[in-house]
Parts: sequence; structure tokens; C-alpha cells
Amino acid sequence: MKSFVILIVAASLAAAAFAAPSGEDVYKARCAGCHDQNTPRIPPKEALQKLPAARILRTLDFGVMMAIAYPIKRDEREVLAKYLGAPGADETASSNPCAGTMRPMAGSPLYNWNGWSPALDNARYQPSDKAGLTLGQMRNLKLKWAFGFAGDITAFAAPTVYNGTVFVGSASGAVRALDVKTGCTHWTFQANGPVRMAMLTVPAGTRTSLIFGDQIGWVYSLDAASGQQIWRKRIEDHEAVRLTGSSAGHEGVVFIPAASWEETRALDPKYACCTFRGSLTAVRASDGTIVWKTFLVDPPKKTGVTKGGTPTYGPSGAGVWSAPTVDAKRGLLYITTGDNYSHPATKTSDAVIALQIKTGKIVWTQQTTPADVYNSACSVKASDNCPEDSGPDYDYGSSALLVKTPEGREILVAGQKSGVVYALDPEQKGKIIWETRVGKGGINGGVQWGMASDGQKVYAATADSMKTGGAAAGLANLIGNANYDPTAGGGLTALRLTDGSKAWFAEAAPCSPPRPGCSPAQEGAVTMIPGVVLSGSLDGHMRAFNAEDGKVLWDFDTAKDFTTINGVRAMGGSLSGVGPVISGGMVFINSGYPRNGGMPGNVLLAFGPDE
Ligand code: HEC
Repeated sequence: MKSFVILIVAASLAAAAFAAPSGEDVYKARCAGCHDQNTPRIPPKEALQKLPAARILRTLDFGVMMAIAYPIKRDEREVLAKYLGAPGADETASSNPCAGTMRPMAGSPLYNWNGWSPALDNARYQPSDKAGLTLGQMRNLKLKWAFGFAGDITAFAAPTVYNGTVFVGSASGAVRALDVKTGCTHWTFQANGPVRMAMLTVPAGTRTSLIFGDQIGWVYSLDAASGQQIWRKRIEDHEAVRLTGSSAGHEGVVFIPAASWEETRALDPKYACCTFRGSLTAVRASDGTIVWKTFLVDPPKKTGVTKGGTPTYGPSGAGVWSAPTVDAKRGLLYITTGDNYSHPATKTSDAVIALQIKTGKIVWTQQTTPADVYNSACSVKASDNCPEDSGPDYDYGSSALLVKTPEGREILVAGQKSGVVYALDPEQKGKIIWETRVGKGGINGGVQWGMASDGQKVYAATADSMKTGGAAAGLANLIGNANYDPTAGGGLTALRLTDGSKAWFAEAAPCSPPRPGCSPAQEGAVTMIPGVVLSGSLDGHMRAFNAEDGKVLWDFDTAKDFTTINGVRAMGGSLSGVGPVISGGMVFINSGYPRNGGMPGNVLLAFGPDE
């Protein structure tokens, strides 16, 4: 494990020696150290040369080489993939077209789960009539079909269900419209970059448009019925941008959050850290015009040099990783933010922030962890890009929920990687009403991707994964090989909305089967229907819990091979990021998350009641 870390650092240092690199230069500096060796574990260069260039790019962006590629910039990745890879198309085309036509996209939808949450409150709560499933049926869910994402090892996109069609992105950038009941493919659209955000359906005259962003800064509007592009626009041009958080819409305007992976670029001691600024962009749904854009930190200035003489810039960071929450009554949007990557620290990092819907102006900020200046260099001793007095990396990765307590008081509930859940008062500039610790917290700890609420309680899953092998194993863990303590994970906590008191706690079940180094951490977003809470874990299990007492009603291990309806070889892996989506009697689950030690996978699973 240690040798991996040394190799990576050595590769980074070697890469600093040149300015405008060719693909061959990048290969020699970053890849040859491993791929020119003849060892059974590492595919040799000749093998890599058989892969399409697009596939190599994806392996760097979202695959097994992700951790190694973190410090490599976009243009370097592209010349490298072109140099190394074979020409020819990537295999993403559909082999299972639908025979019949799609349900019309216009008019009021039958059932839906539109965007990140069925409603603008981001409570991820699907009411009975739209869920089409009861607690009793949840005990007996059966797999109805599985769809394989060809050539992918990650299945991280949030599905959207609208009028009998499930719309879903993928790591390859292929966006698909699949039939809810059979999984056949109505159409496929190829985006420029990987698509992870949930699609948002927006009425557009007589048709319905589908709006979403990709991981490299592009936003698209498609005709939902045909998959034809209406417009496309790049809304953020920092080379390290990631559009991960889903968008929300209001009166013909769509709000798009932007985060980045610049934090990990800082692993390279020669990288001038950091210049990315978290933002929210409001675009007109009809034509993509930018209505307003609010950056969460001021433009960065040069702040000094590192010990090694690399310039440093700041402020930076405060990325938005989650979907905005719309409060139409108060005319406000609520967003949550991540850490600062470099000094100076800002008031807008690790915060819940309210902005005016109309103008994007910041109305109030509630920062729960001040001075959290952190980047990935802090995880490697040899890199001097780590800021002085670095913080704990307690980003918010999940949306604030706008819910009513049983007493009828409106509150905002936000869960942080620190392991603390906060209730804020939207009437008093986000004043903290209560706060409750639900986990230990940490870089891979606490609340990661999303909570759910039924108006009685809020349900918070926590990661709190523990690495075996200590800090030295840190980077090697990122290379897709799980190396976790198989018995240590957070669990699921139910808190009463009234006062934040604990109603119950369901401890994380140890990995099953007990794979070496696997983690039972519960990172993925939580989903609800009346009486039932769904939460997935890194070991691949999706479980349904009784909302009354936390008892497990249903447990399905997704980490296995599946026969798919589109004939693609597919397997499930870790569950993280996106949570299950429930609509019209079906439950959709994407499985495969090979980062931070998770297991790869490339499958979308569709469950329904046992008939
Ligand atoms: C520290 C050693 C190391 C370095 C450096 C490294 N690789 Fe790898 N690479 C591996 C190993 C080990 C595997 C096999 C991983 C597995 O099977 O889990 C692999 C697998 C791959 C694959 C996947 C092959 C497949 O079958 O899908 C590609 C593509 C790849 N590497 C490209 C690169 C590129 C491009 C670089 C340079 C940026 C690079 N690697 C740098 C060790 C390395």
C-alpha cells in the first residue's frame, strides 16, 4: 500500500518538470511507472492501447485510475487519452429499443419524482398516491428488471421519473429515457461529460423539456419526448468544475449549483491552489439565458507562495454539492456549501445560505463550522499545498430540508459531514433552534448525501467509515480497492422534528457477506414513503426500515452480477451519493460507486411489488 502512495507522489513531482505537455509526456510522467512494468496486477500499455480514448478518459475521470488522476488537469487528460487510446466509438448505444411509443410528455403526469426530491422542500418523501407502494409491499419487493451501463464502472446518476418514463444519466455521458415497467430504451442522448445530476422536467409550451448539467460544466435542455437538444450552454468554465448537485426550478427558471474537484488538484505540490469559486446559476428554462449568477467567495488573489515556491491563491471553494431548496412563500432559495480550499477563510463555507429567488442576492448565512480551510494535500505529508491551520473538511454534501414540525412550525433541517444535524429558523435568518449529534463525523463521516423527513421526524444516515491500515493507507484506498473496517459504520438515526431528540437509532449492520476491507457505511441519500425509510450502504445493501422503530423490513444485496434487459454485462457495487427513487409502484436504485474505497458497479435496478 505504501509503495502506491510513493509512486503517486513521485509521478506528481516528475510531472512538474514541463509546461505544455504532449500526451506522451503525460503518459511518461504519470502512468509509465506502473503500466510499463510487467506485473500481473497492472494491465500493460499494449492492453490500454486497445481501449477507446473515451473509455480511458472515463477511467481517469470516474474509474479505477481516479485517485491517480486527481492532480491531472482537463487538457492533460484529454491529450493523454488521445495519445494512449484507440480511435473508434465507445459502446454506449442501446441494444434494447422500445417497440411502442412513449407516453405523451405533455399534460399532467401520472406519477412522478421530478429532480432530486418529489417536492421543492427536498424532504425526499414520496406520498402514498404517487409511491404506489405500501409498507406491506415493501417487505416483498422483487427485482423487475436491471439495466447495464456499458463500459462504466460507476452508476451515480439520480433518476427522474415522469409520466411512465425514467430519465437517467451515466458516467459515460449517455442520458437515457427508459420505460418504467420494462426498462426498454426510448432514446439516448450523448452529453459532453458524465451526467450525475437528476434531470428536471419543465413545461415548455406544448412540450416538456428536460434540464440537467454534466460533470464538466455544461447544461442542456432536451425535448423529453424525443431526446432532441433544445439548447446547450457552458455555465462554468473553471477546468476543475463538477456539476454534481441537482438543480431546482421555479417559474421557468432553473437554479444550478456548482462544485469542483480542485481540492484534489492540490495533491500536486506544483499546483497553484486554489481559484475555484462555488456558485449558484439561475438560467431561463426556455433558452438557457443566464438570469443571475452568485459566487460564494470573492475573486481569488495571489496570497503568497508555498515552501516549495508554488504561488497560492484565495479565497476559494465553498462549492455547492447539493440541490437548492425552494421557499416560494418567502421568495428564498436555500443552499448548503463545502469548505474553503485555501486561505483566507470565508463566512460562506460549511454554511446554510439563503438567497433571493429573483436576484440571487444573499439574504443570510448560517455558518456551522468556521475557518474550515482544507484540501487533499493535507492527506499527504509530502505535499506542501496543505493550508496552515487546516480545517476538518466538514462540507455540507446534502440539501437543507424545509419541513413543518408536528406543531406546524416551519424549520430548515441540515445534516453535515461533522455528524451534526441542525434545525434552523427561516424566520430568523437561520438562527439555530436545535442541534443533535448523530455520528462521529470526518472526511468520510457524518451525513454525506441527503436526509429524508415525513413531517414527524428527520432520518439521517451516517457514513463514519473507518479505514484499516491507518493514515498511510489513505491514498491507496481511493484506488477502488476497499480497505475498510467491515464492522465500523454510522447507521441510521431518527430525530423528532420538534426538538431534535432521538426517536431511534439503527446501528449499521456488519458487511454481509463479510468481504475483506468492505465498509457498511451509510453514505447515500435517504428516501421515504409513508412509514418506510430506505438507506443504502457501501457494502451494496439497500435496506427498508420501519419509520416507527427502525426495524429492517427488506434487505437486498446489490453487489453481484445481474442479467440485464439490454444485454450488457453488469454488476452492482457500493451504494452512495444518489438514493432510491420511488414512483408509480416502482423503486429505482443505481449501484456502483468506486471512490473512497467503494466497489465498482454499472447497474440500474428496478423493483416492484411481488405479484
Ligand atoms: C500506481 C500505479 C498506477 C499508475 C501510476 C497508473 N495506473 Fe492505471 N492501473 C493500475 C492498476 C493496478 C490497474 C488495475 C486496477 C484494477 O484492476 O483494479 C490499472 C488500470 C488501468 C486502466 C483500466 C484498464 C481496464 O481494463 O479497464 C486504465 C485505462 C489505466 N489504468 C490507465 C492509466 C493511465 C492513463 C495512467 C496515467 C495517468 C495510469 N493508469 C496510472 C496502476 C496504475
